[in-house]
Amino acid sequence: MKKNHANDLELNPSTFTDAVKRFWPMLKPYSLRALCGLALTAPLGALDGGIALFLKYYVDNVVVAKSAGWAQYIPAIIVCYALIQGALNYGSVYLNSWVGTKITTDLKEKLYKKLLTFDPQYFDVHNSGDVVYRFYSDADTASNGLINNAKLFLTRTFSTIGLVFVLLYNSWQLAFIAVSVFVLLVWPMQIVRKKIKKITPKLVSSGSNIITSYNETCGGYKTIAAYNLQDYQFQKQRAILNNLFNLSMKMVKHTNWLSPLMHVVVALGVAGVVWYGNNLIIKGTITSGNFASFIASLLMLYTPLKSMGNNYIDIQKAFLAIERVFQILDFKPSIKSAAHSSKISGVKKNVSFDNVVFEYRENMPVLKGVSLNVPVGSTIALVGNSGGGKTTFVNLIPRFYDVKSGSVKIDGTDIRDIDLASLRQQIAIVFQDNFLFTGSIRENIIAGNPGASERNIKEAVKGAHLEHFISTLKEGLDAHIGERGVTLSGGQKQRVAIARALLKAAPIVILDEATSALDNKSEAIVQKAVENLMKGRTVFIIAHRLSTVQNADRIIVLNEGVIAESGSHDDLIKNGNGAYKTLYNAQFKNKKTQSSGAAKMEADLPLFEEIIYEE
Ligand SMILES: Nc1ncnc2c1ncn2[C@@H]1O[C@H](COP(=O)(O)OP(=O)(O)OP(=O)(O)O)[C@@H](O)[C@H]1O
Ligand SMILES: [Mg+2]
Repeated sequence: MKKNHANDLELNPSTFTDAVKRFWPMLKPYSLRALCGLALTAPLGALDGGIALFLKYYVDNVVVAKSAGWAQYIPAIIVCYALIQGALNYGSVYLNSWVGTKITTDLKEKLYKKLLTFDPQYFDVHNSGDVVYRFYSDADTASNGLINNAKLFLTRTFSTIGLVFVLLYNSWQLAFIAVSVFVLLVWPMQIVRKKIKKITPKLVSSGSNIITSYNETCGGYKTIAAYNLQDYQFQKQRAILNNLFNLSMKMVKHTNWLSPLMHVVVALGVAGVVWYGNNLIIKGTITSGNFASFIASLLMLYTPLKSMGNNYIDIQKAFLAIERVFQILDFKPSIKSAAHSSKISGVKKNVSFDNVVFEYRENMPVLKGVSLNVPVGSTIALVGNSGGGKTTFVNLIPRFYDVKSGSVKIDGTDIRDIDLASLRQQIAIVFQDNFLFTGSIRENIIAGNPGASERNIKEAVKGAHLEHFISTLKEGLDAHIGERGVTLSGGQKQRVAIARALLKAAPIVILDEATSALDNKSEAIVQKAVENLMKGRTVFIIAHRLSTVQNADRIIVLNEGVIAESGSHDDLIKNGNGAYKTLYNAQFKNKKTQSSGAAKMEADLPLFEEIIYEE
């Protein structure tokens, strides 16, 4: 069972310096543009201060002294300021957005590259929604959140510096009152930070559930329709959406009081200034112009600060996303090439399993000490009860999972000492549930060997018995097959997968025969394709067909994670009470129930499908 691990990691919001430190290498290549964008924000912010300062001269000269002087130019200057500010603003928004979007794109590339290195185990336990959330959405939240807020913060920093300068110029006492009220916000900001930290993992988990649900709806729409599950699915989705709604409201309830609180604090600041300012004017310490200019710059300073509460919340969310993003980038997959690993080209002697123990979950071994020597060029058929460990056994050869103890070796070298890409280059696999990519048949086949020539592709198509089918398609090999190959039949899908494996021409072939309900004719065609794939290779085949089993050099009966029996068909059939003979007899009985005259087909009949095993 997959479970949601979105909140399986302890999240600690990074500090601003941590985040900047981690982001710096990503920003570095674009630092010149970022710097230009930033440079434009400096005059942009500082112009606010200029306007506030004008007011002092205006009030003192025009309002109080009734002399126009150069103040007559003020209207024109205001318009010019607005024009300059507009132009600078546009330039800085463009540059900053460019840098921000570029960093986000780079980050997504990095994350995707990393995702491709993850062990299959990761995908066993993480839902698709969780993966999309962590590898895509978080990158947006992280970089956009940080960059937008950093930009806002920096613009306001310059504006703040300009305005604080004007405040100080007009009256240092009032400036002191205006700024000191913000001490009142330190504690509330800490509370908000803690709340965000607590609620965010739940929001992430809920958001990823939604993506998973959409993916499931796309993949399982036939099952939904067949079982009339529309209402059931709808209720499930509704519950997830409601949960997300409740969590979002919880977040708003517990954090968004910060902005109104800022309004109150700002009001306290203004009240304090007006109260003390009255005294100063009455005593003649400051002029009316000073006071008007002071109040104007104070209001300009406070207006953005009032909305800073929301920015603070966004920045905390961005920090948490950054934390999650870097946890992924720092994650070291356990299945990777060892530093001392060597490359191999082909198999010369054998593939061997040496007392292999494997478990998906702690202390629940699926393979319990399996030993097997497979000489190069031979065919091994794996049979046994469902859940007995056959797929698991073959999954160890390309290192989808690593053994718990014991070893798998090729020509005497532990596969963990072989370069991973070179190991996988030696193996062609046709899975039990084959995966086809969205795209054309050609694209799906060529995935087996991206450098293959047209002739090789044609040969693979022929070997997989796809020629006839492809000739019926208007676009031939370039026909599109829909997501996961939905427009193909079961047998066609299998043969495309076989063509892909044929094209790879790898020395080791692994076949996990699908038991999907193919009719006898398609079974026979698939069987022929499989035989082509097996020619001259070292083959591990999980077999359900009598013909495959009979022709194998050796049959392994794998029951409950141990080799119950092994040998050729002729040897094993002689052992009256043996596991294989029991399976065979059950099949024989099964066959007798088939209509007479089916003898020709017997070799292709599924062998172990309708048997109920003792587990
Ligand atoms: N990814 C996984 N995570 C956890 N347990 C798994 C996983 N894959 C398989 N198992 C368990 O391991 C055991 C062996 O499974 P495996 O797929 O190897 O069986 P099998 O012999 O191939 O069966 P079948 O003939 O039905 O395909 C089963 O009990 C199964 O539930
Ligand atoms: Mg299997």
